[in-house]
This record gives sequence, C-alpha cells and structure tokens, in this order.
Amino acid sequence: MSSMRTNYCGLVTEELLGQTVSLCGWVHRRRDHGSLIFIDLRDREGLVQVVCNPEQAEMFKVAEAVRNEYCLRVTGVVTARIGNTANSNLKSGKIEIVASAVEVLNASVPVPFQLDDDNLSETTRLTHRVLDLRRPQMQNNLRLRYKVTMEVRKYLDNLGFIDIETPMLTKSTPEGARDYLVPSRVNAGSFFALPQSPQLFKQLLMVANFDRYYQITKCFRDEDLRADRQPEFTQIDCETSFLTEQEIRDLFEDMIRIVFKNTLDIDLPNPFPVMDFATAMGLYGSDKPDMRVKMEFTDLTELMKSVEFKVFNGAANMKGGRVVALRVPQGGSMARSEIDAYTQFVAIYGAKGLAYIKVNKKADGAEGLQSPIVKFLPPEVLAAIVEQTGAEDGDLIFFGADKEKVVNDAIGALRVKIGHSDFGKKAGLFDDVWKPLWVVDFPMFDYDEEADRWTATHHPFTAPKDGHEDMLETNPGACIAKAYDMVLNGWELGGGSIRIHREEVQSKVFRALKIDAEEAQLKFGFLLDALQYGAPPHGGLAFGLDRIVTMMTGSDSIRDVIAFPKTQRAQCLLTNAPSEVDEKQLRELHIRLRNAEPKIV
Ligand code: AMO
Ligand code: AMP
Repeated sequence: MSSMRTNYCGLVTEELLGQTVSLCGWVHRRRDHGSLIFIDLRDREGLVQVVCNPEQAEMFKVAEAVRNEYCLRVTGVVTARIGNTANSNLKSGKIEIVASAVEVLNASVPVPFQLDDDNLSETTRLTHRVLDLRRPQMQNNLRLRYKVTMEVRKYLDNLGFIDIETPMLTKSTPEGARDYLVPSRVNAGSFFALPQSPQLFKQLLMVANFDRYYQITKCFRDEDLRADRQPEFTQIDCETSFLTEQEIRDLFEDMIRIVFKNTLDIDLPNPFPVMDFATAMGLYGSDKPDMRVKMEFTDLTELMKSVEFKVFNGAANMKGGRVVALRVPQGGSMARSEIDAYTQFVAIYGAKGLAYIKVNKKADGAEGLQSPIVKFLPPEVLAAIVEQTGAEDGDLIFFGADKEKVVNDAIGALRVKIGHSDFGKKAGLFDDVWKPLWVVDFPMFDYDEEADRWTATHHPFTAPKDGHEDMLETNPGACIAKAYDMVLNGWELGGGSIRIHREEVQSKVFRALKIDAEEAQLKFGFLLDALQYGAPPHGGLAFGLDRIVTMMTGSDSIRDVIAFPKTQRAQCLLTNAPSEVDEKQLRELHIRLRNAEPKIV
C-alpha cells in the first residue's frame, strides 16, 4: 500500500519535477476559474498550489465541493508553473501539483475568520486558538521555541548539567507573588501551593551533591498580568555549586549567545556590558534599561535644593525625592500638542506635570531658552541645567520632580516612549540592534513603607556581598546582594544570585526581614535543616523562556509564543477555565464558598 503522504506541501520544489507525490493538508484557499480549480494546500511546512482539471470529472466534482480548512489528501504530478505564474514568496512557488486524485479526509464547518487576516482581535484568536495556531506565524513561533529549548538542552548537557524534576504540588516558595493553592482532599483544611519557582528544591539538590542542575519547567504566580507576564510561565531554571558569581554569569551569557546564534544566526555582543543597579537607576530610572535608546537622565536633585521654584525644590528637599532632566536631542521641534500628550503619558506613572525647556540658542543665556518655567529659575541655575545636560541648540529638556519612584518610573518610561517613537528614530535616538546587559549589585533589601519593614529584593536566600554581612542588621539599606539580572532591549530575561550557604548568615537575613526563628522554621525549615549538613557554596539563575522567545520572534506579547495562554484576566478563552465546580467536589475538598464572593465573568 502506498503511504498516505510522500512529501510536505511546503517543501515540494522543482527538484521533484515530473514525480507523482501525495500530499496531506488543509485548504488555505480555493479559487474557481470555471475551467480550472486552484487549491492552495497548507501543511506545517507551508503552501503548495494544486490544479484540478475538469477532464477528470469525478475528481473535479470533489474539488468543487471543498471549502476552506477541509483536510485533504491530494495525489498529482509536480509540474513547472508556466510563464509568469511563479510565486517567489513560496518555496514551492515555481511548481504546482496537477492533481490526479483529491480525497476529502475530513470536511470543516465554515471557519469564523480567514486565517491570513492580520487584524484579528486577540479575543477571537484565543477563543479559536486551534485555528489561530494553524497560522504560519504561530507555527514559526512555537517551532522557534522548541529550537531554543533544544539548544539550551544541548548546551547544558555538554557542560554536565542534568535535568531533575521538582514537585508541582509543594509548599509556598518565596518569590514574592501570590500562590496558586491546591486543596488537599486527604488532609482536610491543608493546601499545596503550586511552585512560583523551583528555588528551594534546586538549593536542596546542591546540598544533595547534584552540582549542575537545570530544568525547563512551569512556574505559577498569581500576580497582575501584563504583556510580559503569564500566571503560568516557563523558566529555564539552573543551579550550580562551587562556581563564582563571575563564572556563573559567563556560563549563562555564553548560553544565550549560542542560542541566538544557532537559532536565528544573530551575533550578540561578547562580552555583554555590565552595569550596577545604582548606575542603571541613576541614568535610566530602571533596573532593566532599554540600551537601544540613546538618552540618559541628568540628576539635578542637588542643584534644585535651593531654587525658589516650589515644584523642584519641594522634590529636591523631600526625603526620598529626586529631580532629573531628560535631554531630548532635536526635541525643540516638538509641537505643543506632542508635549501635552507626553504630559498625559507620564501622569499614568503618577507624575503631576512635565516641565520642559526648549533650548533655542544657548549662547543667548536665559533669553535663548523657551519655557513656562524659565521665569522661576535664576540664570545661573538655567546655565547649569544646560551645561550638565549637555544640551545644544534645538534640543528640548524634560524635567521630573517627585518621589524617587515616581520620577524613575515616569521619566524612565518617557525615555523609552520617545526613543521608540517616529521622532526618536528620525532623530537618531534609537539604535535598532540587540542590546543585552547584566545588571548587578542589587540592594539586598527594599523598604516597604506601608508595612514599615524591609523586604528581600530578590529572595531571602540571596547572599550579601563579601564584607556586607555585618551590616545586615545594622544598616540593611546599604547592603548589596550577589544578585544579577540579564536584560535584553529593556526586558528582564533572567535573574539569579549566589545563595547563602551558612546558617549564621541566613539567620541574620531573617532577623533583618523580621522573620523570627519560629516562622523561619515553619516556612523554610526543610531548607535550613539541609544547610546544616555541609551545604556547598552555590548559586544560579532562571531565565523566562517565554520572554526569550517573545523577543526573538518580535512578538508584542508572550501570549504569542505560548500554545494555550491565559488572558490578562487569567482566563483561558478556549476551555473557559477557571470555572465553577460541583458542590460534591467542593465537599470532598472540605471547601465551602463564601456567599459574598464576586463571581468571575
Ligand atoms: P525571578 O522571579 O526573577 O527569579 O524569575 C526568573 C525569570 O522568570 C521570568 N518571569 C516571568 N515570565 C513570564 N511571566 C511571569 N509572570 C514571570 N515571572 C518571572 C522572567 C524572570 O527574569 N528563583 C529565582 C531565580 C534564581 O534566583 O535562580 C526566580 O524565580 O524572565
Ligand atoms: P505649575 O506650577 O503646577 O503650573 O507647574 C509648572 C510647570 O511644571 C508645568 O509645566 C508643569 O507641567 C510642571 N510640573 C508640575 N509638577 C511637576 C513635577 N512633579 N515634575 C515635573 N514637572 C512638573
């Protein structure tokens, strides 16, 4: 018996001229020219054109009845397309299949949209995800994702890393988001947490002498979703013993470089630049700066302490306040309406206004500056602003003055927004190349004003820099961690740290975090116990696989590189999960719903 399929549609080329092939795929489009019927047949490799002749009446009848997305088997001869009918967009564009048999393997109901419609809403795409996944773009995305994981596995396997699975039904892990909980039927009133990451287990594996571990695994976090976040996502999670921070970074920097080279033939810089956290916040207001944008902050907090202008001196003198300038080269040409639009944009981040100065002619001093705020600032301060920002004639300078976080968020976002705009690209403020970066030397702790206590910036098992151990309790705000993030084009691709492997340091960190011994034992006792058995120095990191592939495919959202993602509201439109469950199921799980619970719509 001949095989059902001899070739992939998208791979039939002129090399097979004259041969008879059998192809299986879906009807992408059918064009009825009366005397001839053309069918574009699609499979995972692409399209091929099939021609059906009326001379074969039986077959022609079948061809007349097929509709979009019917699943067909076509047998025919590979024939050269005549004259100018070749299609240079297709690999199979120089040939067509002159059909001798067309068999409907399965009909399709009418499809809700044309698969090559580029303007589908995401709701439509996610509701009809199966059809959406048939589209070439999604086929490419998921294939690239597979290639990336294969390259990662090859690379790590070569270096002696082994893949070890860790539990999905586990105890809460301290990555800082809310847990997804799973009720235990057998243990009434008790819950498992789905892992936010394998963090604690991979550390246990280090103590257990598996000194090179990795896993490509799902993590679950109940947090507010954005374009780069999903409630369940995939980490390339890694941990090693007996390597220094530098060795760990080198090893994984190489991995990312090789992955980009072997999948997309992209040469990332070697080595990646390294920037400390304080510099990143100072110059870009972000710990994941998009280095393609060629604009930096100028800090004016000191300069503004003694000016009369309330907006600036208020922020400069407030505890945790900051005043910065953002010089926009050639920004002097911006219309008032554009500036107003940017003012509205920064308001999203809490900025109360967006002061600006246009530098018309700096040689003329204050006279050469155009701005509603010039009259509030003395000439020597204006001169200092121009000098410190390096502004030239024709530039515009924006100002942010507020609490540090508001200024960093607002002017940081403004910097990226202008850099990515048509204006920014025309003005040469955007360098369209891959810009990776390590951000290092994160603080150990952030201060949570609401709760009036310190929280771990990374997680509570992150080691302090050598020599900072003694400050953990006396001056937590000044402690720097051995933590590092890999950033690419403004996205955090991955992050990790050297871990604490000595019990006495761990106890100090817990005390700094106001986690008492009892609570620590209750939450992480199993880790603390393990650390006592000669735990080795260890460290590692985790990459967000979904984010890496999103960047590589140039997608707008990580949902485009996940086969069956959730919406921004953490729902699956395909299966309608999450959904209500039977009273019986709830009863078995010892759960009673509160009446007041708002229903998910
Ligand atoms: P972290 O919390 O920084 O570190 O996560 C590591 C990487 O995972 C990705 N990521 C996400 N991707 C999609 N959706 C999300 N909701 C999401 N959250 C995180 C990011 C991030 O850089 N255990 C530590 C790692 C370690 O210290 O080894 C951890 O989980 O790309
Ligand atoms: P006002 O005195 O409120 O009219 O503001 C004068 C100028 O300062 C206007 O251009 C405002 O947009 C700008 N401005 C007000 N508050 C801030 C702020 N927090 N940061 C930067 N500019 C501001």
